[in-house]
Amino acid sequence: MEHNSSVHSNRRDRAAGSTSARANSRSGRSAEVPDGFLLPLANSSELAVELRIRIARGDWIEGEKLPSVRRMSEETGLHRLTVYKAYNRLKDEGLIESREKSGYYLTVPRRPAETGFGSVQRFRSPEQADPESSGTEGLEVPQPALLGELHSVECRYQFSQALIDPLLLPNSYLSEEAKHVFDLYPRVLGTYAPLQGDEELLNVLRRYMSETCGFVPEGQELLVTSGGQEAIHLTCEALVRPGDAVLIEQPSYSIAIEMFKHRNARLVPVDIHPDGYRMDEIEALMRHHRPVLFYLNPTFHNPTGWCVPAEQRKRLADLAETYNCILVEDDAFRDVYFDTPPPPPVYSYDTVGNTIYIRSFSKYVFPGLRIGCLAARADLMRRLLTAKARSTGGTPLLNQKVFAHQFQSERSRRHLHKLRTALQLRKEAMEKALEGSGWTWHSPQGGLNLWIKLPEGISPQRLLADALGSGSGEDTISFVPGSFFDPESRPDPHIRLSFSMLNERRIAEGVALLRAHAEKQGFR
Ligand SMILES: Cc1ncc(COP(=O)(O)O)c(C=O)c1O
Repeated sequence: MEHNSSVHSNRRDRAAGSTSARANSRSGRSAEVPDGFLLPLANSSELAVELRIRIARGDWIEGEKLPSVRRMSEETGLHRLTVYKAYNRLKDEGLIESREKSGYYLTVPRRPAETGFGSVQRFRSPEQADPESSGTEGLEVPQPALLGELHSVECRYQFSQALIDPLLLPNSYLSEEAKHVFDLYPRVLGTYAPLQGDEELLNVLRRYMSETCGFVPEGQELLVTSGGQEAIHLTCEALVRPGDAVLIEQPSYSIAIEMFKHRNARLVPVDIHPDGYRMDEIEALMRHHRPVLFYLNPTFHNPTGWCVPAEQRKRLADLAETYNCILVEDDAFRDVYFDTPPPPPVYSYDTVGNTIYIRSFSKYVFPGLRIGCLAARADLMRRLLTAKARSTGGTPLLNQKVFAHQFQSERSRRHLHKLRTALQLRKEAMEKALEGSGWTWHSPQGGLNLWIKLPEGISPQRLLADALGSGSGEDTISFVPGSFFDPESRPDPHIRLSFSMLNERRIAEGVALLRAHAEKQGFR
């Protein structure tokens, strides 16, 4: 069902104070030169240049922490995402490094006598070398690499993270289960887990797959991973060489895009629609590009929530066989449906073993356990195991045991049932709050997100800047702009709003505020 709420008509006059001083400073138009800086700053390129100058002249010493993103944003009047972007540029150049949950630190040796201001030339970005090319102003399109940082921005209304609200999880039950595991296996922390996974968990997963997915991986065809993310990473490591063509949905899960790009794959986008794929398009792309693999998320797809119908899954398995293309089926949201279970996985239609089946359970079990798995035929599995041996060498045994004991318990099944209802209510609350906004979306039948098209004239990036930059922290809102999910990082009029983290009341409040920001944008 497509939702198409009516377009707002009450446009206010531009002159009515919408170009406030704060808006000016947020878009980087401040004429003031911040302390320690040489120039007034307009965008992340300029901030990056200034920071290179300050590093070169020795404002910070090696290993010293730079001002936090928040502080730098306050100091410069630039938006926090603009500061992230500048910091990330410097990180890519090896000048600074980020330490998890701590901040950014200087990595370069300070050599003022040797370099002085002259060294600035060394760090010049292409735009600075050619000032004519430096056209971007204000907040620029953020890159997928910034997604983690976006999630980490403290804000009151969190619509950016497609994760279960921890309050919806049976936390005390799990802690009891974890204690029980220590009683049952007192030496559980005293040993490594087997490379392929703990046998007890592998059996639980086989049983689950036979009941829920319509197939049972044989003997050595199942591997426990540290989340779905590690499974994608292993696939990338094992199968993709630089220059290989990789089909990927457009839009797609941004972390997967990043992994394939990092491997220097040649990404070939495949459009996904509310009713699935255009199979003739996929066939043409397979024939033309001879891709080594197709990474797909056909069930309550992230970010759109759309689901590929059964007949297309079957046809896809046939095409993969014809063109000798591995299908990497990421099925992270299978169990997160509202009314009707989704069609069986593509893997279940594959008669020759061309599919790698990846599961994350983080979307509804306990994300902190980071348990996932993948199923693949024996020869692919050998390559994946080599990659696993090179990465973690085995998923922590304690996590596997805790997961195995609670995953298929009666209590967990009952919980999953309630969780589905809770998520559906949250989705409906978000849809209700969006009524009359003029924003459009296809109501998903599962997953954690709404994929929303904004009316023409509203920029997702600017909306994010406004929503995050409200200042007080009382009413800040986060969501993910559509360009994060584009394999080619093109601008996109969509945004992803996750409805899983907040309760219905907070969803209604947050969406109302977001709509107010969008309405203001319409008047600028
Ligand atoms: C499509 C998709 N695959 C995989 C993952 C990663 O799963 P995990 O958290 O288990 O690593 C996610 C997480 O958002 C996802 O959306």
